[in-house]
Amino acid sequence: MRHIQALAGALHRARVGEIRLEERMSNYTTMGVGGPCRALVRPPDLASLERLIKVLGELELTYLPVGGGSNLLVADEGFEGVIIATDALQEWDEFEDFILRTGAGVATARIVKWASGRNLTGLEGLAGVPGSIGGACVMNAGGRGGSIKESLVSVEVVTAPPAVHVVTVAAEALNLAYRSSSLPAGSVIGRVELRLEEAEKPKTVSERVRELLIHRRETQPASVLSVGSVFKNPAGDSAGRLIDECGLKGLREGDAVVSDMHANYVVNMGGATATQIRTLIERIRDSVETLTGIRLELEVVPVGFEGDPAPVMAWVPSMNGMKGRRR
Ligand code: EPU
Repeated sequence: MRHIQALAGALHRARVGEIRLEERMSNYTTMGVGGPCRALVRPPDLASLERLIKVLGELELTYLPVGGGSNLLVADEGFEGVIIATDALQEWDEFEDFILRTGAGVATARIVKWASGRNLTGLEGLAGVPGSIGGACVMNAGGRGGSIKESLVSVEVVTAPPAVHVVTVAAEALNLAYRSSSLPAGSVIGRVELRLEEAEKPKTVSERVRELLIHRRETQPASVLSVGSVFKNPAGDSAGRLIDECGLKGLREGDAVVSDMHANYVVNMGGATATQIRTLIERIRDSVETLTGIRLELEVVPVGFEGDPAPVMAWVPSMNGMKGRRR
């Protein structure tokens, strides 16, 4: 308890934005599960984000940036560190030549809608992708219509301790590939710059976005608690198809169920725990491996489970030779 009060005091003095002590991560993830973190902080601008990362470095505290929480599976025990929620980073600036610069917390859906209303092409691949634009850059989010790679110009990033600075990183330097980027662990995207292009024929973008949204609605479960695709597609194949072929639709652990609509979705019917979801995911992975010889790779990022490495985006004090403190 004393530790928590000391942390709250240090964060408050650093003027880092709204602080929620011991916030339950189930409130911040689309899977609706996950225990408490030590504190969740919502910096409202880049300067607050920089101050926050500096103070977390000084306190030698592990931290994890979270955008829309739409690709995270947080353990029931929670996360032994500070969550940097980027959802308050909501700047929005439009420039000539169809350049848009926004805070990392802006919803991808809002940007897709904006582009589609102006017949600007480049972001159609993000139609129906949940989450924030910052998170979309880290994961190179997208779908059959392409990914964010096509229109990303650069990101403004706050670098990890001990050298905490705001730097602009060109999109090419992020090495965006299928659902991955090379952004160093602990660097947090604060702002994103996108360049779009005017489509040649009227209404083409809105029509394409509409088609992609309809395809999603017909093939993926909506209005349920989930993290979207659980596994990455193996080269040249589809994780959903493989899981389906193995007859695993409907497999369950408590309220965690392999979706009947799309086998690469695990849905939380309401009362699932993170442990049940994780167990089900490992059962799917083992069955597919036994039946097909293919070991599927996770797309969802597990957080706080014992035995896992730290999530790729987390900063852990020991990374810089600092000794991590335990609660
Ligand atoms: N399929 C089945 N059974 C299933 C699911 C799919 O046989 O239960 C078959 C489909 O019939 C199709 C093939 O598998 O022939 C591919 O399925 P789909 O078109 O639904 O696409 P996907 O490869 O499973 C990817 C992304 C999705 C994205 C869709 C559509 C990955 C891991 N998934 O899914 O992304 O929405 O394309 O653009 O890359 C996400 O990243 O969270 C996500 C949902």
